[in-house]
Amino acid sequence: MTAKADRTQDQDVVAVIIDDHRTMEGLFRRMRSNAEDRAAALNEFSALLVAHSEAEEAEVYGALKRFGGVDTEEVEHGEEEHADGTKALLALLEVDDVGSDAWDTRLAKLVEAVSHHMDEEERTVLNEARESVPEGRRTELGIAFQEERARQLASDCGSVEHVRELVRG
Ligand SMILES: [Fe+2]
Ligand SMILES: [Fe+2]
Repeated sequence: MTAKADRTQDQDVVAVIIDDHRTMEGLFRRMRSNAEDRAAALNEFSALLVAHSEAEEAEVYGALKRFGGVDTEEVEHGEEEHADGTKALLALLEVDDVGSDAWDTRLAKLVEAVSHHMDEEERTVLNEARESVPEGRRTELGIAFQEERARQLASDCGSVEHVRELVRG
């Protein structure tokens, strides 16, 4: 495979989104471990979850709804699950004592909400996108997703103040 083909495959929106999902799972492991800096892992996670979800909604979900082979209801359901994930994230960000009982309970809820969403997104919307969206378009969407994700990250999108604004709508 040529270097150009490699690059194109790296920017396929499906691959880029799935990469983030695996990164989020790694951050969950760090947030559970008392051998890790859990607060730092949560900050990293918060920024990534917000940037990822906002970039999906701004650049990917709308485009996928316009493709015949992607189920519009699944995409809209994904937006609702993003809102659930953001609420669960805020609840954890508001716990002062990292590793406390409240932290554990709220972390479990966050993991449950976000894992459920990633699983469903991969099984429905992303599989459908692989089948029905041409490769060139998937690459364009991957580039647009990454640009919006970078803009979000540069604006401190994971701060508790910003997450609170998102939850309040
Ligand atoms: Fe996602
Ligand atoms: Fe999503």
